[in-house]
This record gives sequence, structure tokens and C-alpha cells, in this order.
Amino acid sequence: MNTTFDMFLETEVPEDELIISRTDLSGNIIYVNETFADISGYEPEELIGKPHNIIRHPDMPQSVFANLWATLQRGETWEGYVKNIRKDHGYYWVFARVSRLVKDGKTVEYKSVREPISTAKKIQMQNIYDAQRKKEEGISRVVLYVQNDKLTKLKEFEA
Ligand SMILES: Cc1cc2nc3c(=O)[nH]c(=O)nc-3n(C[C@H](O)[C@H](O)[C@H](O)COP(=O)(O)O)c2cc1C
Repeated sequence: MNTTFDMFLETEVPEDELIISRTDLSGNIIYVNETFADISGYEPEELIGKPHNIIRHPDMPQSVFANLWATLQRGETWEGYVKNIRKDHGYYWVFARVSRLVKDGKTVEYKSVREPISTAKKIQMQNIYDAQRKKEEGISRVVLYVQNDKLTKLKEFEA
């Protein structure tokens, strides 16, 4: 029997650094700062030119992003809590502000600046998004808690 493990590890977002990305009008990444690359586990050149949904976590409800785009289209700034997925399938939570970059009265780009959130807020938002996905998409998230002694036994079994 083949057994595989997937560990979903959380990456802490630093308090003192800004996580910045910019996209074209279709949401393709045109710039990331070094902190963004570090947090997401990609090299900047792996991200440039890719749709921003490259870091979309499956736990995020579709309606959150529909709301984001509708807000930008109205010319307003969107703010919200986002769980993103890393290249190594780990994840990180941020509070994001997404807004337009306007030149000569025309929207030319979008930009996003993010900051860390508290553990309590992460738990609250996970519950809210889980409930939202269940209601809107009929999808339930399965969480499996493995006690330490059982994990040790599993590791022995693997060896
Ligand atoms: C400036 C900007 C930043 C964005 N940042 C993120 C982000 O950090 N994570 C994310 O999942 N989507 C982000 N999005 C939204 C994505 O473009 C996309 O709508 C979302 O990932 C949902 O993917 P989907 O449209 O394929 O369902 C951002 C969009 C813009 C314009």
C-alpha cells in the first residue's frame, strides 16, 4: 500500500514588511515585491505574467473575488481577508487592500497591499468562509486532526 502525506503548513506574514503586487486590467501579475515572492514561495519571475489566481486557495469562496472585481469596476477600493496558497501548498492569511492605479483619468493597473492578521481573526474568517462555501457552493471542508501518538505510529508504519 502506498501512503502519502500532505502537510499544510502556515507561513507567518511579517509585521514590518509590505506585501505588494500589481496586475494588468485582466488580473495578470505584472509586479511583485520580494516579500510577496518570499511569502508565496515563488521566485518573482515565476509569478510575472501569471493570473493572480495562481495563489488562490481552494478554501476561498468564489463570491469574495466576484465582490472584489465588482468593487474595482465601480472604481472603489476593495478590502478583505484572504487565504492564499503557496507554491509548496502551504498557506498564509492576509488583510488585503486592492485598488486602481489611474493615469489621465483612466484605470491602467490594479495594485494590492497586504498586512498580517491575528490568529483569532484567521480562525473567525476560516469559519465564515467555510459557511459561505457551504451555502453558496455546497462544499464542505474536511479537517482531520491526528493526535501526536497516532502520528508517531503512522511514521513508524511508513519507515
Ligand atoms: C491587484 C489584485 C490582487 C489580487 N490578489 C489576489 C490574491 O492575493 N489572492 C487571490 O486568490 N486572488 C487575488 N486577486 C483576485 C484574482 O485575480 C482572482 O479573481 C481570484 O484569485 C479568483 O480566481 P478565479 O477568478 O479564477 O476564480 C487579486 C486581483 C487583483 C486585481
